Amino acid sequence: MKKNEFTAVVPVAGAGTRLRPHTHTYPKVLLTVGDKPIIGHILDEISAAGIKKICLVTGYLGDKIKEYVSRSYAGLDISYVEQPEPKGLGHAIWLTRRAVTGPVLVMLGDTIISADLRKFLASKDDCIAVKEVSDPRRFGVVEVKGGYISGMVEKPEHPKTNLAIVGIYSFHNSAQLYGSLQELVDSGKTTKGEIQFTDALAALVRAGHKLRPLPIDGWYDCGKPETLLETNRYILDNKKFSPKAVNSLIIPPVYISPTARVENSIVGPYASIGDGARIDSAIISDSIVNEKAFVSNINLTGSLIGPSAAIIGRKDQLNVGENSEIRFDKTVCDQ
Ligand code: UTP
Repeated sequence: MKKNEFTAVVPVAGAGTRLRPHTHTYPKVLLTVGDKPIIGHILDEISAAGIKKICLVTGYLGDKIKEYVSRSYAGLDISYVEQPEPKGLGHAIWLTRRAVTGPVLVMLGDTIISADLRKFLASKDDCIAVKEVSDPRRFGVVEVKGGYISGMVEKPEHPKTNLAIVGIYSFHNSAQLYGSLQELVDSGKTTKGEIQFTDALAALVRAGHKLRPLPIDGWYDCGKPETLLETNRYILDNKKFSPKAVNSLIIPPVYISPTARVENSIVGPYASIGDGARIDSAIISDSIVNEKAFVSNINLTGSLIGPSAAIIGRKDQLNVGENSEIRFDKTVCDQ
């Protein structure tokens, strides 16, 4: 490995509770958003930035992640570290201490960005991506003085700023980072029941370490159903696809996998149809249909359909006389 070459650490061992029921059986990072699983977008961004070595921290449903990554990204140099229990992000990154040397870029497994990662690699400083958000209480929050971070707190009740930590971190000297994580782990300190990465970084800042906040605009969270759909809309708006369907109306933007089969349907806007999915006689907008799912005879919007799920609506046959009134959906107003 060349001197000063970054290794990317991507922790993907969390249980993804906010995306249940999907994550009961399927790891969050394998859920489709836009034209591929979340982890695919992340690995593409990392390799586009020229990073050659990647270390994934896997745990919950990790075998499924390894199977996808080794099949779809065989050309990348990817190693795995196991986190048997999700004890927190700080713990996940601490576990990579023997697998990683030199500069390190940490990128969370549920963050898709449109920013160029090379900004992080090119900076002389160690950097943390930040973004102004309206409700910072759900995030790690930083305070800034003289261009550098002067304090940071994980999910504060009373945030002092609205600058949230976005989930990308770069460190030129990983030994220093692992040293702080080691002290945190040895101290037994947890915040909200987890060994928090933010606590190790806050200790570095208190010891005088300079961390630069790097503002990024394009940050797309995939942690909850509504943010996953929002990210899906963003990806569909910003990439060009040539979706194909039989006897159907496509209202762009839409992604239909070349291995999916769509017929007799109206698809879009903002629909993603995954590999091997089948759509027949359906109307689908603002939704993600994951791989091998089957959807027929239904009108779906704002929906997430899991892999291999089957949603079969109804096709009615009516014999209705003059002046009759039949309503299946009472939300549709009088006409
Ligand atoms: P989150 O805090 O979003 O946790 O982790 P999560 O498990 O993915 O989702 P929820 O909160 O239960 O819905 C941010 C990133 O850190 C990883 C997760 O996999 C995700 O990529 N992580 C978190 C770990 O690898 N290990 C942990 O112990 C915690």
